[in-house]
Amino acid sequence: MQLTEQATTLSSSSAPPSMSLRHVVESQQFTVPLLMELFDRARLMERIVARGGTLDYQNRILASLFYQPSTRTRFSFEAAMHRLGGRVLSTEHARAFSSEIESEQVEDSIRIIGSYSDVIVIRHHEEGGARRAAAVSPVPVINAGDGDGGQHPTQALLDLFTIYHERPIEGLSVAFIGELDRGRTVRSLAYLLAKFDRVKIYFVSPPEMQMKPDILQYLDRHNVKYELESSIDRVVGEVDVVYQTRIRPDRVSNVASRMRYAIDSSVLGKLKSNAMILHPLPRTVELDKTVDSDPRAFYFKQAANGLCVRMALLTMLLDR
Ligand code: CP
Repeated sequence: MQLTEQATTLSSSSAPPSMSLRHVVESQQFTVPLLMELFDRARLMERIVARGGTLDYQNRILASLFYQPSTRTRFSFEAAMHRLGGRVLSTEHARAFSSEIESEQVEDSIRIIGSYSDVIVIRHHEEGGARRAAAVSPVPVINAGDGDGGQHPTQALLDLFTIYHERPIEGLSVAFIGELDRGRTVRSLAYLLAKFDRVKIYFVSPPEMQMKPDILQYLDRHNVKYELESSIDRVVGEVDVVYQTRIRPDRVSNVASRMRYAIDSSVLGKLKSNAMILHPLPRTVELDKTVDSDPRAFYFKQAANGLCVRMALLTMLLDR
């Protein structure tokens, strides 16, 4: 389908043809040319959204299947499909389906839902849930987050797009802070950053929550420099991007212990003047509300970028 920039079907500028992409399960699937194609399309989507959207995908249906809660991912995917003129079948309580309670396997659910829709977005509580879905699906499957130690590739795509909007990725230094061993957004973004030259990553967390060896080994294989740290103060003044994440209260109940990894006005004073603060959200105590008005706070722009990046991704999958 030819994507048009008008809210009608009149074409004044169209997206480039999509390179091959069947399912989106993990961020390693994306090459740099594929990322650049996605980002070009996302910029086109910004212009299309400013005009109210397009009707080009009006006969296409997105099924949004969430076995875990979501605000940003689910709403932005659904808004993306609406802005493209398509329709949405949605549940945010997939685990409460009568079929799930009766032990229906995700494979059977996907085969059926795939026969009603053109693309499926799935967030699953088990690591590998999206991969299992993709293995049997008759239509493209997008991983919207799987398990505790899986991935969240579309979050990483919008994270990278947010950075790319502001500065080159080559030579970037990034501090990932928080509960990294279960950080699916951090895992996905680390894979993407590894595709660019001269990137340096600092993993900052309590030692028992440090990044898992599979990611570190991947970075080693791709000659990406990284350091493991347990102190925010030793790295925040060094980096271009601070990527803050939660430490969940069920793992560290003591608020003071979690606050050791928080960004507040004292940390702001140590950051580079042109640093970017990102957070996939939702937040708890690790990102003080006083940071919101700082020009280095990009996390609301980051969440907003989810709309155009996900519109772009949907067009790449639906145009195949
Ligand atoms: N960042 C993110 O995945 O947010 P939601 O859980 O609200 O989708």
